[in-house]
Amino acid sequence: MYGVIGDPIEHSLSPTLQNAAFEALTMDSVFLAFQVKTGEVENALCGMRGLGICGLNVTMPHKNAVIPFLDKVDAPAKFLDSVNTIINNNGKLSGFSTDGIGALNALKKNGVNLKGKKVLLLGGGGAAKAIAYALAKEVDELTILNRSPEKIKALTETIARDFNKKVSNGLLEPSAIQENLQNADVLINATSVGMHPDDKHSLVESQLLRRDLTVMDIVYNPVKTKLAKDAEKAGAKVVSGVEMLIHQGAASFEIWTGRAAPIEVMRKAALNKLAGAKN
Ligand SMILES: NC(=O)c1ccc[n+]([C@@H]2O[C@H](COP(=O)([O-])OP(=O)(O)OC[C@H]3O[C@@H](n4cnc5c(N)ncnc54)[C@H](OP(=O)(O)O)[C@@H]3O)[C@@H](O)[C@H]2O)c1
Repeated sequence: MYGVIGDPIEHSLSPTLQNAAFEALTMDSVFLAFQVKTGEVENALCGMRGLGICGLNVTMPHKNAVIPFLDKVDAPAKFLDSVNTIINNNGKLSGFSTDGIGALNALKKNGVNLKGKKVLLLGGGGAAKAIAYALAKEVDELTILNRSPEKIKALTETIARDFNKKVSNGLLEPSAIQENLQNADVLINATSVGMHPDDKHSLVESQLLRRDLTVMDIVYNPVKTKLAKDAEKAGAKVVSGVEMLIHQGAASFEIWTGRAAPIEVMRKAALNKLAGAKN
């Protein structure tokens, strides 16, 4: 048995993704969603040990709260202070963060080579931090803009120091987007702007988008955000948030099972579920 813990949990796509993968590989496994209230996290992890639940995904608001109850935490999760995947090895619980690798693989598997590239990342929340950490190893230059720039100052300094890369940060405002986009090869929206029901909005003026740009919007509801539509019209290469969702789920699946995740099956299941979701 596998599952996801969070609160609220009913909109999680993890059961759809993981059960489709188990079924495709004819594995005798099931993935369930558990609503776990704040204050019940320790009990939930004791339950994981006691019941022999093999793996858990962790979503809001518990990504940080689970850490004290784990036996081991991997380097990205430690850096981010955030765990979204737990594996149970005979009662020893190890925590991982797969958001960053999910974003990295979404780009790479869609043909985007990040070596030597300049990336403009919008956002400074949990997802943006995970992406910044994962991309820092690969890219040449990273600029992070956030509405609250004080939230990304420490992140920027640590990445510049640890990875010896050119990393800058600033206030997310139209002039800064325009200026930084001129030299960027890849633009990533890791804010929640554009997410349902705010789906008429984009932080980036459509006339700034170009053919030689790769644009990834990590928002996956709607599947095609305003930014993605504008980028497509401009002839840019577009990588959708669904790709990151699938690849972070695939990374969790591989941690738990040691088997290659059936990406195509997971993509189909996620898109079907999102198409059927009532907005
Ligand atoms: N595709 C995937 O697999 C995947 C994975 C994780 C998350 N996501 C999506 O990514 C988005 C962010 O998730 P998160 O976990 O990072 O959330 P979070 O920690 O709450 O961060 C939200 C981010 O959006 C910014 N923001 C919100 N409203 C804004 C506005 N009106 N103008 C400018 N910036 C604004 C926030 O800026 P401040 O810091 O100034 O508040 C912050 O940077 C969500 O839509 C989530 O569904 C997708």
